[in-house]
Amino acid sequence: MQDLAINGGPRAIESTLPSFRDASGRTFGQEELDALTEVIKSGRLSFLTGPKTSEFERAFAEKYGVKHAVAVANGTAALHTAVIYLNPEPGDEIILSPVTDVGTVIPVIAQLAIPVFADVDPVTQNIDPVSIERNITPRTRAILVTHVYGHPADMDAIMAIARKHNLVVIEDCAQAHLAYYKDKLCGTFGDIACFSFQQSKHMTTGDGGMVISNEDERFGRGLRHCSDKGWPRERGGRDHLFLAPNYHMTELQAAVGLEQLKKLEQFVDARVASADRLTELLAGVDVQPVLPLEGTVGVYFFYSFRLDPSKLSVPVTQVMTALTAEGIDGFIGYPGQIPLYKYPVVRDHKTFGSSGWPFTLEAARKIDYSSVLCPEAERACQETICMWWTDRLEERHLQQIAAAIHKVISTYSKSAGSA
Ligand SMILES: Cc1ncc(COP(=O)(O)O)c(C=O)c1O
Repeated sequence: MQDLAINGGPRAIESTLPSFRDASGRTFGQEELDALTEVIKSGRLSFLTGPKTSEFERAFAEKYGVKHAVAVANGTAALHTAVIYLNPEPGDEIILSPVTDVGTVIPVIAQLAIPVFADVDPVTQNIDPVSIERNITPRTRAILVTHVYGHPADMDAIMAIARKHNLVVIEDCAQAHLAYYKDKLCGTFGDIACFSFQQSKHMTTGDGGMVISNEDERFGRGLRHCSDKGWPRERGGRDHLFLAPNYHMTELQAAVGLEQLKKLEQFVDARVASADRLTELLAGVDVQPVLPLEGTVGVYFFYSFRLDPSKLSVPVTQVMTALTAEGIDGFIGYPGQIPLYKYPVVRDHKTFGSSGWPFTLEAARKIDYSSVLCPEAERACQETICMWWTDRLEERHLQQIAAAIHKVISTYSKSAGSA
């Protein structure tokens, strides 16, 4: 039996891996530096006076073949802009997955809508269309679909349900830049799609986000006004038509975004190629990589794999501790070892003062978020290891990552030594 690093043995990963946290795992060049210098020298740091934000919006819309793109401060802001646009009545319901970032649910609650959690498919960990349909009530307004880990959700089934029940579909593509479901880009199925350019994403502006759509006016409001103080600036003068925050992107973010967008294919291809290679290297190891659905192109925001606790001689937490000691950069479960609805903001209604709104509103259906609402999601959160991924991983890194996983799993496998 190999000596685990956790027991004082040699680490399988000799040096640190490229990380999204710094230049080792991010790809910036002279282009970004020049673009930033240009903005600073121009003295125009806001979209109000500079050209970069609208150039970035046009380029992003073109890449996705859609009519409109609105650049915003971050991915949560993008999703909030989409939900503000939907203009739900307090107590209206929005269906989403509990295997996603908290940034997916914050906008729902902030607009006083009720998050209704549908369970996930046990294999892909994406929202399960059957569970979506079961959770539809007369109050349901929208389905908010996260393409989790960068792998496309089952959009044919989801769009069919949305059409049947006349629901709006918002796609959360924060992790799914240039992911394809069949021949179509994720982000072009629903009514609106939202992206994040946060530090860990396929392309980054540090923080940043984008909303895309083929429409820019419905529900009694304009899409762009939803991230701009409800302000129809294009008419001139000052007017504020409804409650909306200021989520502007700065020219500095947009300048970097424009350059990163030019390299997006390269980033995505590199992530996918190294993920495919790791899957190959893990072929003989008793783990279940979370792979994209057949006929789709997943883009590996994380590289995730599932463990079967019944085959292990130690808890999954011990496996993770041992992997970390070997040099793996990962964690158990997304968005943690509990699904989204078990965090205090949802389960304990930690929202506006002591009101508990929107959960306590008379108009709202009461849901007990402390119960096991989504059993597959609960299991996935406890049995999945997510590894941070970047476009800078090389063959030698992948060999070492595979060796680390092999070493730890074979040591802790119940069948170890019995063959
Ligand atoms: C699936 C998903 N949705 C929403 C968000 C929120 O984006 P941001 O962190 O840019 O606000 C993220 C980012 O972590 C995400 O991964």
